[in-house]
Amino acid sequence: MGLAPLWRLRAGGEESSDAVDALPESAPVPIGPDRGGAASSPPAQTPPPERVPEVRSVRAALPVRDLIPRAAGEAAAAAPDRRDDGDPARTGRIARMDWDELEADIRACKACRLCEKRRQAVPGVGHRRAEWMFVGEGPGAEEDQRGEPFVGAAGKLLDAMLAAIGLQRGENVYIANAVKCRPPHNRTPQADEIAACHPYLARQIELVRPRVVVALGRPAALALLDAEISIGASRGRVFHRAETQVVVTYHPAYLLRNPADKAKAWEDLCFARRLMQEQAGKV
Ligand code: URA
Repeated sequence: MGLAPLWRLRAGGEESSDAVDALPESAPVPIGPDRGGAASSPPAQTPPPERVPEVRSVRAALPVRDLIPRAAGEAAAAAPDRRDDGDPARTGRIARMDWDELEADIRACKACRLCEKRRQAVPGVGHRRAEWMFVGEGPGAEEDQRGEPFVGAAGKLLDAMLAAIGLQRGENVYIANAVKCRPPHNRTPQADEIAACHPYLARQIELVRPRVVVALGRPAALALLDAEISIGASRGRVFHRAETQVVVTYHPAYLLRNPADKAKAWEDLCFARRLMQEQAGKV
């Protein structure tokens, strides 16, 4: 899929942006009107594990502990994020749900206009006590049909991104979206829709208790951080959401349209993996 193969290890296992070699970029993948992209997209190619570089130099390349001022951050660092959409009773109710109750509530949700055009709500998928969580924007057409996040072309790229750092859907990773229902015509979810769905995302995070959450794109970052941020300016930084560390990178659908930025996404994934290794006390 063109992520990891853009990188080549230096002697000694170091990596840097200089190491982006001249391997041809994978052919740009056409994406269709759906957020997830056209079904005709070629299957993602997963780099073999031995091609995944060590992340030793990421600390030098990117500030691992650049804790930036957070719009919601300082306050959120101490307490769970209980933002609500103006209905504290609903927020409190969702905050006490177990997995089965949560998924049933999501599937029946009518809290915002997105319920009107959905085929079905898409709660999330993966290991329920995963160390990793990836959060996207919202279901596209295929996700709306199948009830699982990231199953279209963007999902194939996400799977390849996971594989590039040794992860696999369903194993130690949970995948969710900022909004659980497909926005009509795959438009970007609006802030009030993200807010209405936030109690669900918040509860998913509380139940999973991931060590690292990766926000895929701006709407995901808005949902997670309650702040409008630029992905370009926020890459390589660690945000805090309660006890959870959040990093940001580009959305896979964006990367399908802008394959030159896959190298940056690869940096971000290495950064996230470094953070995870620190968290797990492995470095
Ligand atoms: N894009 C997303 O943000 N989420 C999905 O589930 C699919 C495509």
